[in-house]
Amino acid sequence: MKSAFVLLTFLAVSQGIIRIPLMRGKSARQELEERGLFEEYRRKFPFNPAAKFLPRNEQSVVPLTFDPDTTYYGEIGIGTPPQIFKVLFDTGSADLWVPSGSCTSTACENHSKFNSSASSTFQAGTTTFHISYFSGYVAGSIGYELIQISDIHVDHQIFGLTETESGFMEYVPWDGILGLAFPGLSHEGGTPIFNNMWNQGKIPQNMFSMYLSSSAEGSMLILGGLDSSYYTGSLQWIPLYKATNYWDIQIQSITINGNTVACSGSCAATVDSGTSFIIGPEQDINNINGWLGASLNPDGDATVTCSITHLLPDIVFNINGFSFTLPPSAYIIKSTSGCSTGFSSGSWILGEVFMRQFYTAFDISNNRVGFAQAV
Ligand SMILES: *[C@@H]1O[C@H](CO)[C@@H](O)[C@H](O)[C@H]1NC(C)=O
Ligand SMILES: *[C@@H]1O[C@H](CO)[C@@H](O)[C@H](O)[C@H]1NC(C)=O
Repeated sequence: MKSAFVLLTFLAVSQGIIRIPLMRGKSARQELEERGLFEEYRRKFPFNPAAKFLPRNEQSVVPLTFDPDTTYYGEIGIGTPPQIFKVLFDTGSADLWVPSGSCTSTACENHSKFNSSASSTFQAGTTTFHISYFSGYVAGSIGYELIQISDIHVDHQIFGLTETESGFMEYVPWDGILGLAFPGLSHEGGTPIFNNMWNQGKIPQNMFSMYLSSSAEGSMLILGGLDSSYYTGSLQWIPLYKATNYWDIQIQSITINGNTVACSGSCAATVDSGTSFIIGPEQDINNINGWLGASLNPDGDATVTCSITHLLPDIVFNINGFSFTLPPSAYIIKSTSGCSTGFSSGSWILGEVFMRQFYTAFDISNNRVGFAQAV
């Protein structure tokens, strides 16, 4: 009787997918625009979406750029008893880090800081890690902790504790980052948290998925499987393109009314929940923005007149024989200062603008990404 009970309990736990509600905070752009500081910060911390994906020559450097439009975060607990942090769940990096108690930067003052003395499970590491911002490096230390996500616990998880942070971090709505890319990308040199969850038997399938809502609430990260209540139709699966440690796929072309407007003859793109826009090479992006009649403002944003956005065309991404259509309601970003297109230059990245339209599954076992029309 007892063993049957234990077995049933085990099955119930092992088959459960884990849901982590994601919230949308105020973006750094909104915070800075309200203070009249946006242009100054844009100049000081130029946006280089490719920075994260540049080849590294130093193993211990985590590149970051000032993306002023990231807004989604979820809560995790670190330590015993758990200290709560808001983290950006980032499929474009593979490390977990939060501010440490000894960080005195203004950016840390505005965020939760981890107090290692207050946790009975903290183990200090012997190495350091560096985060490279667009303008210089800062250092932090490595530790190991018990991490709580929803109702599961991951033991002995490597994580970074930042000691200094770049000025732009003051205005982002999250305290730290939780990376969901592949282990080979880890700058901290340990096993990323999602892989540990799978290795420690905490999730039923080696897969996670994300639903990004355009509302402040309602977004969801699903660990260990899919939740069909967040999409319609079936998932269209796309094999990963080459082994790059990123969630890279191949796009065949991007079209407007049947005309190829970008990615002619195919291109490789990273599916990145930690980048707000859709990013592509300057010439391709200029071409798309040209088709939309957008003009570049001094901050480098492609702006359009808000009153005519409903007249703009759909943009179709042709991937693995499937067509994924973005209507203007998906790719136009409205802010207090007006309307801009969700397209910016760098190397190809399908960021939140794409993921809001398509529920996205990241399937590690089968090395593939799935998209389905989000509800
Ligand atoms: C950190 O935790 C220790 C032990 O609980 C406590 O004495 C100390 O005041 C805490 N430090 C901060 C900055 O809260
Ligand atoms: C950060 O904290 C300082 C001091 O408490 C405050 O003046 C500033 O407005 C805060 N910044 C944000 C973005 O909340």
